[in-house]
Amino acid sequence: MKFFVDTADINEIKELASTGLLDGVTTNPSLILKSGKSFIPLIEEICAVVSGPVSAEVASTDYETMWKEADKLRQIADHVAVKVPLTPDGLKVCKRLSDEGTMVNVTLCFSAAQAILAAKAGAAFISPFIGRLDDVGSDGLTLIQDIVGIYGNYPDFQTEVLVASIRNPMHIVESAKIGADVVTCPPSVIKQLYGHPLTDKGLAAFVEDWKKTGQSIL
Ligand code: E4P
Repeated sequence: MKFFVDTADINEIKELASTGLLDGVTTNPSLILKSGKSFIPLIEEICAVVSGPVSAEVASTDYETMWKEADKLRQIADHVAVKVPLTPDGLKVCKRLSDEGTMVNVTLCFSAAQAILAAKAGAAFISPFIGRLDDVGSDGLTLIQDIVGIYGNYPDFQTEVLVASIRNPMHIVESAKIGADVVTCPPSVIKQLYGHPLTDKGLAAFVEDWKKTGQSIL
C-alpha cells in the first residue's frame, strides 16, 4: 500500500519525507489556500522534495481552460499527477492527458459508477472521498470495497484506487484490508498510526531495566 500525504504544508511534507515512508503528495485548492503560498512555485518546491506522484489540481471547470491549466501543471515535473474533477469535461481532459502519457488523478469521486468512467478515461488514480461520504451518513469504505472489486474484474483497468478524505487510522487499516492501492492522509492521521499505549508502556519499562544493567551498547 502506498502512502501519500494530503497537505500543501511544505514543512510537514519535508518531515514526513524524512521518514522514508512517504510515496507521494496530494494537494487541492483548499489546501493551497490554507498554505498561503503561490501555487506553481509551491508545487515545484514539493516536487523537489518528493520523487513520487505529486497531485496538482486544475482550477477551471470548462474543457478548454482546464486543458491549458493541465498542460502548464504537467510541465512542472514528470511526476506531477494532474488532478481533474469527475465531470464530463474533467474526464475529457483526463483521457487526452492519459493518452499523452501524463498521470491524472480524478478527484471528487463519490460513486462506483463515477469510478468506472475514470478508469475508462485512463486515470492513473481515482480519488473516492470516504470521509465526506461518512459525513453525510453513507459508508465511504463500502464504496472502496465496490471500486476495488469492480476494477479487479477488469485487468485492463490500470487505475489505482487512491482513498481520499481520510479522517482516522481505521480508515487506513480498513482500506488496506480491502486492498486499496493508495491512501492519502492528513499528516496528523499518519502520525496517529505510530501510537499505541502498550508500546509507550513497554518501552518505558525496557529503558528503565536497561539502565539498571549498568551497560552501554556503544
Ligand atoms: C484528496 O485528494 C483531497 O485533497 C482530500 O483527501 C479531501 O479531504 P477532505 O474531505 O478532508 O477535505
